[in-house]
Amino acid sequence: GGAAGGLPEGAGVPRVRPRRLRTTPALRRMVAETSLEARQLVLPVFVREGISEPVPIDSMPGVVQHSRDSLRRAAAEAAELGLGGLMLFGVPEHKDAVGSGATDPDGVLNRAITDVVGEVGESLTVMSDLCLDEFTDHGHCGVLTPDGRVDNDATLVRYAEMARAHAAAGVDMVGPSGMMDGQVAVVRAALDGAGHTDVSVLAYSAKYASAFFGPFREAVGSTLQGDRRTYQQDPGNAVEGVREARLDVAEGADLVMVKPALGYLDVLRRVRDAVEVPVAAYNVSGEYAMVEAAAERGWIDREAAILETLTSIRRAGADVVLTYWAAKAARLLTRG
Ligand code: PBG
Repeated sequence: GGAAGGLPEGAGVPRVRPRRLRTTPALRRMVAETSLEARQLVLPVFVREGISEPVPIDSMPGVVQHSRDSLRRAAAEAAELGLGGLMLFGVPEHKDAVGSGATDPDGVLNRAITDVVGEVGESLTVMSDLCLDEFTDHGHCGVLTPDGRVDNDATLVRYAEMARAHAAAGVDMVGPSGMMDGQVAVVRAALDGAGHTDVSVLAYSAKYASAFFGPFREAVGSTLQGDRRTYQQDPGNAVEGVREARLDVAEGADLVMVKPALGYLDVLRRVRDAVEVPVAAYNVSGEYAMVEAAAERGWIDREAAILETLTSIRRAGADVVLTYWAAKAARLLTRG
């Protein structure tokens, strides 16, 4: 019997109805498992030496290489929107084999740190990419041996110098992203040795050799030939990602990161469950570009895709999300 005539005999009228909790917007909001808030979002920004106007990045519509002035304005806007922080990347005019610009106090990134901290004070967390690839003429994340291999321990010496330079410039948090063994311990020791015990370390722990970094390489004018597979991880390895995260925590990382995000949500979940520090995920340039390109063609609803992407990354376990959509998403969220 029952009201629903036509249901097959024996199945019965559904007694358990999950749809009930989806009836109204208010009810859906009340039972939502995952929050997405501006404070959880970090905006990566590029600042390029020697320009007076921002320069658009073709493969990342809506993202620019900033001038010193436009960077300050973007930082003020980020603070106004209540974002969690900014991650700064420098694009120097001159590159060399050891990435001298990275440790020059007048180098583009070090100046940008001071500018941005001066602009926003403590209203958001100012973070810096601690890596050599933007500054080296060969485009690798470290210095090379005479036969062209990336020299792990010689690179660590440069990272220590870079950490001290960023801290002297006033940074709140450094993000070692070069995937050298022992980088977190060396950066921590360098900071502490220079009296910067309050500067925290966001470790790029599980960072994969990914095709989804493609647009970023345009954004920073990368000169890389070949690939980064001797230091970044094999995309098929999840256990190794967890191991890297645990090692970084043991070396003193204050937060750990999984990168990219979307293809690695399983790694993100495993890392979240394995460590007792906040976990960040980097929604990288190629993930941004895919949605933007499809939206430009009218093939996908841009705003819905942005919020769904960021919510999925949060659901998988990210406490913090680095995303080029941070400002856009914050505006969408306040609009409701
Ligand atoms: C290295 C670095 C990269 C990204 C962030 N830090 C590039 C790389 O490892 O090749 C990629 C970010 C993105 O694709 O959005 N300094």
